[in-house]
Amino acid sequence: MTANKLFLITGSATGLGRALAIKLAEQGYKLSLVDFNEEAGNETLSLVKEKGAEAIFIKADVSKEEDVKRYVEETVRVFGTIDYFVNNAGVMVPMRLLHEYEMNEYDRVMGVNLKGAFLGLKYVIPVMLQNGGGSIVNTVSSNSFKPTAFNGLYSATKHALAALTKSIGQDYQDLNIRAVGVAPNMMTTNISANAVVTLTEDRMAKLYASTGPNIPATPEAIAEAVIFAATTGADLLNGTIMNCAGGEIYQ
Ligand SMILES: NC(=O)c1ccc[n+]([C@@H]2O[C@H](COP(=O)([O-])OP(=O)(O)OC[C@H]3O[C@@H](n4cnc5c(N)ncnc54)[C@H](O)[C@@H]3O)[C@@H](O)[C@H]2O)c1
Repeated sequence: MTANKLFLITGSATGLGRALAIKLAEQGYKLSLVDFNEEAGNETLSLVKEKGAEAIFIKADVSKEEDVKRYVEETVRVFGTIDYFVNNAGVMVPMRLLHEYEMNEYDRVMGVNLKGAFLGLKYVIPVMLQNGGGSIVNTVSSNSFKPTAFNGLYSATKHALAALTKSIGQDYQDLNIRAVGVAPNMMTTNISANAVVTLTEDRMAKLYASTGPNIPATPEAIAEAVIFAATTGADLLNGTIMNCAGGEIYQ
């Protein structure tokens, strides 16, 4: 039942966010698309409009509170509600041993992946409460279960986002708000392009040894998991993390 239902998606300019937006447009959902990459964000907007979707693009940096407040207010002004929220914007920073990280790298990855996700929840949840409930998907990672080598800071953000997902599942049960974490492992997007530049051949070999079967997933395949988690699966999966690692079992 998609009539009049609205998905708000952060990080919708490229990768998973774009693939998800296109699938949702094909299924008849309304879309509020958020990203700080204006050019690619507007391309996603054109692609979903070609599918007939009622949609807007809002340029916003999820790590800035005033931007998050604005993207939530603008979405409500245009569509009146937020039925589904996909907290998906994320970055990686160049992969290193922990002591090798610069503080600006720490601030960036924490600012987008954790503070940005928290701010989204802080401003979206009151809208959902006012409208009788809603469903949230946080894009977490196999790094929410176990860090891949030289990926400690990113992994810390994704462990923390998994914890926020579990908290929502526990704390909002009576308030009709559901949250599920969707955890891709190796998705075929460009997110790691700038992150692997610091890896020598030796470190790259250690990285592969630290991960599971490395079965790549397309963003389209993960988008299917997100749609299930947000809609028909939300009640059952509330407060849990969907491991989408293609055979790697995490405890
Ligand atoms: N690709 C993978 O293997 C993989 C694995 C596990 C989890 N993830 C997660 O999936 C999510 C989507 O990433 P992707 O793989 O599609 O990569 P991507 O780089 O294509 O998409 C990330 C999107 O977030 C946007 N973004 C980054 N910083 C932002 C900011 N400050 N404000 C607003 N938008 C911002 C980018 O512009 C981009 O559109 C991320 O949360 C990522 O951590 C990816």
